[in-house]
This record gives sequence, structure tokens and C-alpha cells, in this order.
Amino acid sequence: MADPALSIVEDASSAARVVADRVEELIRGRPNAVLALPTGRTPLRLYDLLAERYRAGRIDFRSARTFNLDEWVGVGRRAPGSYAAFMDEHLFSRVNLRPENRAIPDGAATDLNAECAGYEERIREAGGIDLAILGIGRNGHIGFNEPGTPFDSRTHVVDVAVETRAANQWSFPDGRVPTRAITVGIATILEAREIVLMATGAAKSAVLRRMLEGPIEPSCPASALRLHPHVQVVADAPSAADLRSRTEAPGR
Ligand code: F6R
Repeated sequence: MADPALSIVEDASSAARVVADRVEELIRGRPNAVLALPTGRTPLRLYDLLAERYRAGRIDFRSARTFNLDEWVGVGRRAPGSYAAFMDEHLFSRVNLRPENRAIPDGAATDLNAECAGYEERIREAGGIDLAILGIGRNGHIGFNEPGTPFDSRTHVVDVAVETRAANQWSFPDGRVPTRAITVGIATILEAREIVLMATGAAKSAVLRRMLEGPIEPSCPASALRLHPHVQVVADAPSAADLRSRTEAPGR
């Protein structure tokens, strides 16, 4: 067990640049790399940068594979608010990732348990995840693993916490956020060979402190990442403001 590497940068754009640099480096060295990807507000700038770097010929996603971390239950792939629609808009339509190489749990599946088991199987068949990119919820969730989720959990269906639903209202045009989601498990995330967690904005400062300085326990799912040997936390200055031990990286 090693403490996560902590990079504190000036702002959200700098955080996105640090993570885009890592993705670029990984895919250059390993064109068929397998990435796990988040949705939400945090990675928006990262996806802009990845699209820019693809257009500039700096990153070629042709052989890469992606697995999204989660999807809402009962929301079809094309429905507004689905994470599939989010990914199409913000990344997939802008880079050359092959459709067959980008996986998102199917929240409209009739047999959700079979969908979860099948998703785990697809990750295994792909050779596991090389790099998992994560955001963090204000209650400490990663993916949609809400507080109380066992660290040995695999891909499963969750009841999404009330505060998480409120935080996601912006992405549903009618404001009606589903109550359940499919998420990869904490064990699934911990099996990734490398993990980068992005945190931006003052609203994440308390949870970042809990994650890095509080007890390692299911009440803060993100604390599980401290059990992983290869984790980098990329935080902007506002989100890092509450950390006791801060090592400022040069602003980029
Ligand atoms: C979404 C996901 C979530 C988000 C988290 C933070 O795919 O995995 O864990 O990363 O809810 O969301 P934002 O970035 O909107 O603050």
C-alpha cells in the first residue's frame, strides 16, 4: 500500500491537461490500451482536450478500448440524460474510437444482473483495465459506488443516493433523474493497473480530505483507492484547499 501520488494544480483546465498528458503517453506506448471513463462535469475539459489532440494527430484511438464506469437504469442509449448520449456528444463523436471498442453498461437491459455479469466478462476478455479515470462524488462515491458499498463489489445495480441524484439533475432535460444505475464495482476499479482520480472545485474539498486523510472504510468508497499501489490524484487548488499535507505542483 502506497499513498496516492497527489498533483495539485492551479485550476480545472490544468487538471484536465495533466490527465490528457497521461492518456496521450499511455496510448502512444500502448495503442490498444483499455481505459475506464467517467461522465459528469469533471471530465468535460479532458474530453475537449482529447478531441483536440486527436484532431492534431497527437493521439490515435483506433486500437484503444473504453469501458464507461456507469449508466442509469431504465434510460435507453439514445435518451437525453443517458451516459451513452453524454459520451457520444463529448468524446465518441469527436475521436476515432471504434464503436465496437467502446462499452457502456446497458441500463435498458431486461436482465440487469446478466448485463452486469456480462460487463465484467467483457472487461476480463479485454485483458483488464490499463487506466481508470475517475471523478469523485461529494459523498465519496466513485463510479456509482455509494457509501456503504463493499470494497469487494463487482459490477452491480445500485440505488443512487438522493444527493447524487440531485447533483445529476442538470443532465436530464426534464429534471427527472432515475433512481437506479449500473456501476462497475470497487473491486473492478481496484483491478485497474493504474488509476487517476480528478477532483475540481471547492465543492470537492471536504470529500478529498476524507478520501486521503480519513479512515479507509466503505463509508467513503474513494478511500479504497489508498489500497491500490498506482493511484494519482489530480486536484485543482480549490478542491485541495482542505488537505493537511499539500505539496503544490507547479501550475501548468
Ligand atoms: C460518473 C461517475 C461519478 C462522477 C461523480 C462526480 O460516471 O463515475 O462518480 O465522477 O459523481 O461527478 P461530477 O464530475 O459531475 O462532479
